[in-house]
Amino acid sequence: MGVQKLVTVVLLSTLFCICHGFTPQDNYLINCGSPTNSSLTDRVFMSDKLASNLLTSHNQEILASQSTSSSDIYQTARVFTEVATYKFSITRGRHWIRLHFNPFTYQTYQMNSAKFAVSWQNIVLLSDFNVKNRTVKEYSLNLNTNDLVLTFTPSSGSFAFINAIEVISVPDSLISSSPAPRVVGGTFQGTLSSQAFETLHRLNMGGSLVTPNNDSLTRTWKPDSEFLIGKNLAKTVSKIPSVNFVPGYATEETAPKSVYGTCVEMNSGEDVTANFNVTWEFVVDPGFQYFLRFHFCDIVSSSLNQLYFNLYIDSMLATADIDLSIFVDNTLAGAYNMDFVLPTPKSSDKMLVSIGPSSVHADYPNAIMNGLEIMKMNNSKGQLSAGAFVPGGSGGSSSNHKNLGLIVGATVGPLLALLLLGGCFVFCKKQRKRGQDGYSKTWMPFSINGTSVGSRGSRGTTLTSITTNANYRIPFATVKDATNNFDESRNIGVGGFGKVYKGELNDGTRVAVKRGNPKSQQGLAEFRTEIEMLSQFRHRHLVSLIGYCDENNEMILIYEYMENGTVKGHLYGSGLPSLTWKQRLEICIGAARGLHYLHTGDSKPVIHRDVKSANILLDENFMAKVADFGLSKTGPELDQTHVSTAVKGSFGYLDPEYFRRQQLTEKSDVYSFGVVLFEVLCARPVIDPTLPREMVNLAEWAMKWQKKGQLDQIVDQSLRGNIRPDSLRKFAETAEKCLADYGVDRPSMGDVLWNLEYALQLQEAVVDGGEPEDNSTNMIGELPPQINNFSQGDTSVNVPGTAGRFEESSIDDLSGVSMSKVFSQLVKSEGR
Ligand SMILES: *[C@@H]1O[C@H](CO)[C@@H](O)[C@H](O)[C@H]1NC(C)=O
Ligand SMILES: *[C@@H]1O[C@H](CO)[C@@H](O)[C@H](O)[C@H]1NC(C)=O
Ligand SMILES: *[C@@H]1O[C@H](CO)[C@@H](O)[C@H](O)[C@H]1NC(C)=O
Ligand SMILES: *[C@@H]1O[C@H](CO)[C@@H](O)[C@H](O)[C@H]1NC(C)=O
Ligand SMILES: *[C@@H]1O[C@H](CO)[C@@H](O)[C@H](O)[C@H]1NC(C)=O
Repeated sequence: MGVQKLVTVVLLSTLFCICHGFTPQDNYLINCGSPTNSSLTDRVFMSDKLASNLLTSHNQEILASQSTSSSDIYQTARVFTEVATYKFSITRGRHWIRLHFNPFTYQTYQMNSAKFAVSWQNIVLLSDFNVKNRTVKEYSLNLNTNDLVLTFTPSSGSFAFINAIEVISVPDSLISSSPAPRVVGGTFQGTLSSQAFETLHRLNMGGSLVTPNNDSLTRTWKPDSEFLIGKNLAKTVSKIPSVNFVPGYATEETAPKSVYGTCVEMNSGEDVTANFNVTWEFVVDPGFQYFLRFHFCDIVSSSLNQLYFNLYIDSMLATADIDLSIFVDNTLAGAYNMDFVLPTPKSSDKMLVSIGPSSVHADYPNAIMNGLEIMKMNNSKGQLSAGAFVPGGSGGSSSNHKNLGLIVGATVGPLLALLLLGGCFVFCKKQRKRGQDGYSKTWMPFSINGTSVGSRGSRGTTLTSITTNANYRIPFATVKDATNNFDESRNIGVGGFGKVYKGELNDGTRVAVKRGNPKSQQGLAEFRTEIEMLSQFRHRHLVSLIGYCDENNEMILIYEYMENGTVKGHLYGSGLPSLTWKQRLEICIGAARGLHYLHTGDSKPVIHRDVKSANILLDENFMAKVADFGLSKTGPELDQTHVSTAVKGSFGYLDPEYFRRQQLTEKSDVYSFGVVLFEVLCARPVIDPTLPREMVNLAEWAMKWQKKGQLDQIVDQSLRGNIRPDSLRKFAETAEKCLADYGVDRPSMGDVLWNLEYALQLQEAVVDGGEPEDNSTNMIGELPPQINNFSQGDTSVNVPGTAGRFEESSIDDLSGVSMSKVFSQLVKSEGR
């Protein structure tokens, strides 16, 4: 019986969820106090008399109208002498709330003297609010209820008014998207996803006014000139058609093309020594933290890597040497947004934002900005306004409570009746939301140049060099909480470095917690490297560090939790469903992007040194992120240390040239990546001692088949018949070139990336233009020149190494080092 009941409940709730699978977008435009609909810039605002049930306290309001021909939303208002509420039924998630005020005088009500508060739950949008001129206040709230109840509370002896209200759904990804925001001047512990914001400024640099009908999220973007200090220092550029929206970066929802397509740049004339800042000054509310979103799009350069500039917020260096072409996957004029949190409450009512040329790359001194949004963040009391109003407290007249009580009393009955269904609904929604958002909503603290916290007593140990990353430091108590005191049931892996636990932070963010073995000296070095690397580099294809803990001699690293584990786990040995060819290509492309960024994304290239399928992780959407930077190094450099300690990496993936010469270059990563490519194609371990001798080493074995032109013979069973031959050929060629004996003959990660993308195109190509043909001229024309060389290259010239030679040299070199060291390294780096 009990089971049957349970099944029924489960079934019911499933049904319930299915019928609510569709999420309607809320779009309330309300014209308050008017008997008719009115329009404002092509948008129809519905009369709040016609929109039934919105106004839950009906008796206390006064309809005010300035003119009889009330086709303008600003000509009518609703006046409240007592607490009043508007109630909107909504779908959960982030919404714009826009409040339109245009004070005028109606009978004895002089609206420019009105004083009142507006709130939702504990979030106070306005308090002691008095408005003299027409104003639109915009808020962005993450609503966690199915009703939005906006409460208007007149200050004692005064009244409230409102002309129009907008309540509009916003994609949750708009704020809280990765890459995580950066932090300037302090430490920030909150999460952006639960934060309430008030938009104080939203500017279209170098462009004209963008009105709500020209923005997919109905925003208003103002021209910047009135905020510019020293107007002669800046000039404007407009190239709207050249804007590129690269998938995975800013979209037309982040900001419209008309914002990205115009900018302000330095007015340096022909002066190549020009060195000055372009600065804007904004009025802000002191006492609050701020969220700043910069919009960049390099519409001024004629080629990649031409423009380098610095960004300052309140005279603090926010980011140095910005090279936009790298940020957007080497795309010119790619739209890019850069987010910052200013966690220290502003002490003044002015905020300065400046751009200036970078001192490092001073060939073409210039700096640009395309758009900027400045948003106030709610404080710990939930206020967005400094006034004294407390929701539910005694802010209004004494009769308020009675009225409120009445309203609540009337709704309790039906509420109770709906409770069971509602509970199930909420539960289902929650589950869905988790699935959709996962930890992508996670906000991660990030200090730029460690401008904020000084050295916070680092116990005088070797950790001094990471004190600049103090913003990442997480208290041990928090880590213990998150992992339920390192509960063994949460252990999800063990490696040379230590154990890995699944955890959950207070705010629900899921994390992977790697706890190092404190005795290991090697571990300490890796711990430091990992923190240094990951706090320098942020990329959607590199796993994000959330924090670290070095209290009580602990070495704990906290990362974003990667739902789908390692790529290796999806290839063999774990019984997980196998990936399609397209998924595999996308994963390889993602990982290649991450590595390409490491190799090129900074003034000094970084070599990962431990590229393998166990170090490529997959998020809930199977997006690949490269992990484990403990061994990475800035290079190229010659390792001076003894061979046995210098050669690091994982057996089976190791570059034979690195063995021979101990010369570390990016091309060693390329080699290892080539092995990963074959592993992905063949779905077998890179070293499998149980197999016949010629099959033990995957790289060797696959190269043998590739040379015979019969690689298709050893392709993963589950892929057979599902790979287009052209795609396979391109992929195999790419892998083969990565395994070239000499680094100089291997392609760069950038070339690998392009070729993998090409392989994906070949797989995806549809029949309309006939069969896609490798080396066909139109295809080649779309690819950059280095690829042309690469894809047309004669295999026998480009790949001098043969399988035989490769085998020989690796054995020779292996015997030159201490085998046990290599083996311990192998064990160490497995499963981390
Ligand atoms: C007012 O607008 C609403 C929603 O746009 C519409 O359904 C309604 O018919 C309009 N009413 C009048 C009188 O125009
Ligand atoms: C309001 O408008 C008046 C007249 O246009 C102007 O003088 C005044 O500065 C404005 N006040 C504010 C606070 O903007
Ligand atoms: C803005 O919208 C109006 C009306 O929809 C249109 O005529 C105008 O061209 C648009 N402007 C831009 C810059 O898109
Ligand atoms: C630009 O502004 C920053 C911050 O105020 C300052 O440190 C820097 O010296 C300025 N650069 C120039 C060239 O004036
Ligand atoms: C802002 O309000 C939210 C929701 O009430 C809260 O979780 C968050 O901590 C507040 N922000 C700050 C900085 O206190």
